[in-house]
Amino acid sequence: MPNVSRRGLIGGAIAVGALSAACDPAPTPNPGPSIVVSLPPFDPKDWASVRAQFAYDPAIANMATFVFASSPATVRAAIARHQAQFDFNPIEYLHANEVRNNNAVKDAAAEYLGGTAHEVMLTDSTTMGLGLLYNGIRLSPGDEILTTEHDFYATYESLRWRTARDGATVRRVRLYEDPAKASVDEIVSNLAAAIRPNTKVIALTWVHSSTGVTLPVKEITRMVAGRALVCLDSVHGFGAELSNAADLGVDFLVSGTHKWLFGPRGTGLIWGKTVAWQQYLPVIPTFDFQARGNSASPGGYKSFEYQWSVAEAFAFHKSIGRDRITARIKELAAKLKDGLAGIKGITLHTPRAAELSAGIICCSVEGMQPTTAKNLLYTKGVLASVTPYNPAYLRFGTSMVNTEADVERTLKEVRALV
Ligand SMILES: Cc1ncc(COP(=O)(O)O)c(C=O)c1O
Repeated sequence: MPNVSRRGLIGGAIAVGALSAACDPAPTPNPGPSIVVSLPPFDPKDWASVRAQFAYDPAIANMATFVFASSPATVRAAIARHQAQFDFNPIEYLHANEVRNNNAVKDAAAEYLGGTAHEVMLTDSTTMGLGLLYNGIRLSPGDEILTTEHDFYATYESLRWRTARDGATVRRVRLYEDPAKASVDEIVSNLAAAIRPNTKVIALTWVHSSTGVTLPVKEITRMVAGRALVCLDSVHGFGAELSNAADLGVDFLVSGTHKWLFGPRGTGLIWGKTVAWQQYLPVIPTFDFQARGNSASPGGYKSFEYQWSVAEAFAFHKSIGRDRITARIKELAAKLKDGLAGIKGITLHTPRAAELSAGIICCSVEGMQPTTAKNLLYTKGVLASVTPYNPAYLRFGTSMVNTEADVERTLKEVRALV
């Protein structure tokens, strides 16, 4: 890492000013505007109180919070506080606070992930993380990246560009035939059979947004046993599943923090084992000169008020309890899956087993396009989504802001569709 600081970079041209400033009295820092935000009372043990921390439209059962989050009151307040200061004096506020606040986010992420702060790179989204990782990972001509037929567009596009650049190849494997009947054995053995001696990277997604299947990642990394780097798009497991990166045994984990964690929009991260970062060459120059190794976050001036407020999202999650949040998501998902499975004309595509699914639930409605079903449900106050895959399915997500009443209302309106 070069021995410069951002101040040094910017300050090169103002060295004369700095010299003459040495003779002048230092300006008294102006504390800037103080923003007072009143927060609703909060009892983290009470799910109604958790729900009350959000500004979601109370008139609808929002079963699509996982697509793009709205943040709880503490996160919105932190964004507002930082924003007022940035509007007042952006440069001074940045210089006075960037190291502390970047480190606070990385410390909170590391605690959540079971790693260390210098293993964390801050990004704007899962998509940015996937693009950086797959384009920065060191490969030689003839090396192969193995991915699956169940991954997201951003993984496929990142890999396509990467392989077009330097002669590495990419191949896809199908891990299960019928998602509803997928098993740990089927998934692990299909992946094992597809690994070749030149497979250097395995690009997977933890929870498939196409089907709701959750990969048995621990079993997979045990099977791979270090023969290739295992990289995981974790966005629908991060903030929803209990395992942390260390438990999963992956080499790299990529996630947005603006879905199940309910962090500020436009935030995300990459975590990598310290040794795995040695296989990575940065793509975007960093401004984070405190960082060690190659995990330095991509630089340029950013919407720091959002990035820094990710720390509050981790704190909110922690105050409720990670185990309680996972249990709640799975309990509501089980209720919804049980109900959907009992409706004639509905085919559930997500496994019923809690170890092979998280909070995403996909189904189809006999004789109806998923988009039609989604639109009809919305007219009845239920917000669902449609999977951006082929085949497309009607999709729901049970997050910590949902209630039993949301699930019942969803079931009632789905019944009315068939
Ligand atoms: C599996 C998966 N990865 C990545 C993304 C994109 O996430 P982000 O908005 O954080 O880029 C999505 C959906 O939005 C997704 O379903």
